[in-house]
Amino acid sequence: MRIDRALNIAELRRQAARRLPKAVFDYIEGGAEDEIGIDENINAFARRKLLPKFFTPCADINLTTELFGKSYATPFGIAPTGLAGLFRPGGDLMLADAALAENIPYVMSGTCNAAIEDLSQDAARNAWYQLYTGRDKKIDEDIVRRAADAGIETLVLTVDSEVRTKRERDLRNGFSGAGLKPLPLLEALRHPAWLTSYLLTGGRPRFGNFAPYAADPSDVVSVWNFMIGHIPGNPEWEDLDRFRRIWKGKLVVKGILHPDDAVRCVESGADGIIVSNHGGRQLDRAPASVDIFPFVRAAVDGRAKVMLDSGVRRGSDIATALCLGADFVFVGRATLYGLAAGGVPGIRRAVAILRQELETVGRHIGCGCVSDFGSGHLMPSFVVPAG
Ligand SMILES: Cc1cc2nc3c(=O)[nH]c(=O)nc-3n(C[C@H](O)[C@H](O)[C@H](O)COP(=O)(O)O)c2cc1C
Repeated sequence: MRIDRALNIAELRRQAARRLPKAVFDYIEGGAEDEIGIDENINAFARRKLLPKFFTPCADINLTTELFGKSYATPFGIAPTGLAGLFRPGGDLMLADAALAENIPYVMSGTCNAAIEDLSQDAARNAWYQLYTGRDKKIDEDIVRRAADAGIETLVLTVDSEVRTKRERDLRNGFSGAGLKPLPLLEALRHPAWLTSYLLTGGRPRFGNFAPYAADPSDVVSVWNFMIGHIPGNPEWEDLDRFRRIWKGKLVVKGILHPDDAVRCVESGADGIIVSNHGGRQLDRAPASVDIFPFVRAAVDGRAKVMLDSGVRRGSDIATALCLGADFVFVGRATLYGLAAGGVPGIRRAVAILRQELETVGRHIGCGCVSDFGSGHLMPSFVVPAG
């Protein structure tokens, strides 16, 4: 399997599908109910047209992007994705290390397999931490303290996952975060490289961040039982205010789609919002992030950073988001395909593909640096929110 032969994210996806058992690949790939939302995320980007612009030669494109006082190499980073250790042992740390090497942000998932303390000092300084609020506020606050102690400067609260969603692929496959059931394991015989690593690492993913709170921290089942009893915590607005009080770094709220919620986040002191429908994994009939984005951005009115994820598979998707005014973009599945297909080199390949495509699009539309991307480069009908 040659990572460097992958021309685009779709080819990395095919490589990932070959390496992973069906039940595991389905977990990455799948979404809620009919998976209309997943297609919609992709199609909503494809519907938007970028306008070529001539006589503005851009030999060197500078994608350097300033965000929250840091200078990143590109205007996109790696979204939080749980269970990365199941796709490849040490997956979370590979994502963190690849992000550090590429100088892009990596958001450590609230349901990752590694522990915050497993991150190297440099990787932690580059990482953001994503929290799913849980039932025990003291434990949430302790996790947040551990993130701060590790040197993490940005906390992301994901708010769209309080409802346990109906992901029919997972239900059909009998898939749960606790590991693979016997039947999916049989199918895994056709993916020996993955199966060997799965069995060598104990056969069940560990949720490192929750180990200190479990009845038996050394027992993966005990940690799993604790975690599923703790989250979700059904947060209220007061909880956001509470996190604003205790978290001294940058605070970002992820999963916002309603402009009114965005305004409330800003009023609570959030520094940023990630407009996201969780990659189509939560509410199947939610709007594509890119469709609702202009309304959220207008409501926030420059008072916080407005970022976006869900459906990004091409550099042109990132260009479109930037033209709509996104301050930053995140990718979920794109870098997971890279991780599954080829570990750190695979993740870096995914980042390089997106970066090169974005540079090419920038040249087409006459944008030499990130601040050049703007509404003037999009088909006008998509620039102004209707109504
Ligand atoms: C396998 C997988 C696991 C995910 N786990 C989390 C998570 O733990 N926390 C979170 O906030 N979002 C999670 N997400 C959502 C991503 O952060 C992101 O919103 C989404 O993947 C973006 O859509 P895309 O995959 O089309 O890029 C997950 C997504 C996937 C595909």
